[in-house]
Amino acid sequence: MPKIVLTDITKRWGDFYAVDHLDLVIDDCSFVTLLGPSGCGKTTTLRMIAGLETPTSGRIEIGDTVVFDSEKGINVPANKRHVGFLFQNYALWPNMTVYQNISFGLKNLKKYTKQEIDEIVQRVARVVKIEMFLDRYPSELSGGQQQRVAIARTLAPEPEVIFMDEPLSNLDAKLRLEMRSELQRLHLTTGRTFVYVTHDQMEAMTLATKICLIENGVLQQYDPPLKVYGKPNNLFVADFVGSPSINFIDAVGTQNEGSMDFTVLDDKKATFSFAEPIDIANWREAEKKADAERAAAKAELAKNKKHVEKGNKDTVFKYHVAMVDDSAKQDAEPTENDYVIGVRPEMIEICDDGGIEAEIYSAMPTGMETTVRLRIGNFLLTGVVFGGVTYEIGSKVNVRFKGNGLMLFSRISGRIIGTGALKV
Ligand SMILES: Nc1ncnc2c1ncn2[C@@H]1O[C@H](COP(=O)(O)OP(=O)(O)OP(=O)(O)O)[C@@H](O)[C@H]1O
Ligand SMILES: [Mg+2]
Repeated sequence: MPKIVLTDITKRWGDFYAVDHLDLVIDDCSFVTLLGPSGCGKTTTLRMIAGLETPTSGRIEIGDTVVFDSEKGINVPANKRHVGFLFQNYALWPNMTVYQNISFGLKNLKKYTKQEIDEIVQRVARVVKIEMFLDRYPSELSGGQQQRVAIARTLAPEPEVIFMDEPLSNLDAKLRLEMRSELQRLHLTTGRTFVYVTHDQMEAMTLATKICLIENGVLQQYDPPLKVYGKPNNLFVADFVGSPSINFIDAVGTQNEGSMDFTVLDDKKATFSFAEPIDIANWREAEKKADAERAAAKAELAKNKKHVEKGNKDTVFKYHVAMVDDSAKQDAEPTENDYVIGVRPEMIEICDDGGIEAEIYSAMPTGMETTVRLRIGNFLLTGVVFGGVTYEIGSKVNVRFKGNGLMLFSRISGRIIGTGALKV
């Protein structure tokens, strides 16, 4: 089974960079999800690997074969790359029944007998639960059923690498969950490499062995789901994954004997202790050095006559601090004493005394858990409490921050500095 290696892949149209210098190694047998907001370059990346789009520059290897190299002028056509592809805009053949749609690709392969083809069709149809529709035509199916036929058609020829571009987008929530679990089983039992595009972070979290999170054509993080969740590289990643969303708290302060002394939530004194010791001065030095190196590399690139300046500029992510009334909020230019603390909803503990005084702003029980919004002065924090707890709106509670996994970010660059505990 092949490993896929992308080296310095760029795709631009004019000065619009859809994919910006992407390096990516997709391991053999892995399940990689390409995740990111609409228009960030997921489909384009997938199409380039599959050979349906020509990169502007870079190199792509699938297994031992170089399938694309802009410098050497190599470009292996799509049908020779041995990949199965399920498009975002899949099209079933309208004049063929479901059975014929699924078996069509198998007949062309010529290596199967009629009976083998029948077995495969029955098996994949069972996996996606359409075995009762095999004699129908696509126009006689709902959108979700058509989508499942498209999945079956992709799986039938047993390609070594399977690319799927939002294959579950037309399904209802329950079926989606079921299909997700089937896809996970399928990945396990077939041992194929899956590359899966989605903008649904839940889908990416639950299915992937590794998530590749892209924004504006730039790779933000490429890690296993729980690392992306627990130690996001920057504010954008922290905000993009997790539901309910992470809470951001502005913090101003300096380091004092290892831990950070902060003022948070208007006027409250707080201490942030790192899970692993970090010296802020050193961290800043290293960050400045890395930035200078990046700027130098960019300047070097710009000397090339063929270089085109990126029109869709990269900016530091504008994080959102939830407030009851944010009309008076002003965005001052951040200094080195400005930080942002990221608190996942499950890190908020509601208790009877100690910590910070808060008021229940809203409480939404789902049965299994309750999402609670807590008001602290003008600020709102979202917490999740397990179990069916009822809270009276307006009642007074106390709030503490649980555990060692709160995240500290630099406000200037938006990058993570480290994780730790916050005591207020
Ligand atoms: N042929 C083209 N010419 C110019 N720009 C294009 C072309 N194809 C795509 N783009 C642009 O490239 C960017 C990336 O497109 P892509 O289809 O990869 O997005 P995506 O991440 O798959 O988004 P979605 O989640 O909405 O499917 C988009 O902003 C799109 O407008
Ligand atoms: Mg897309």
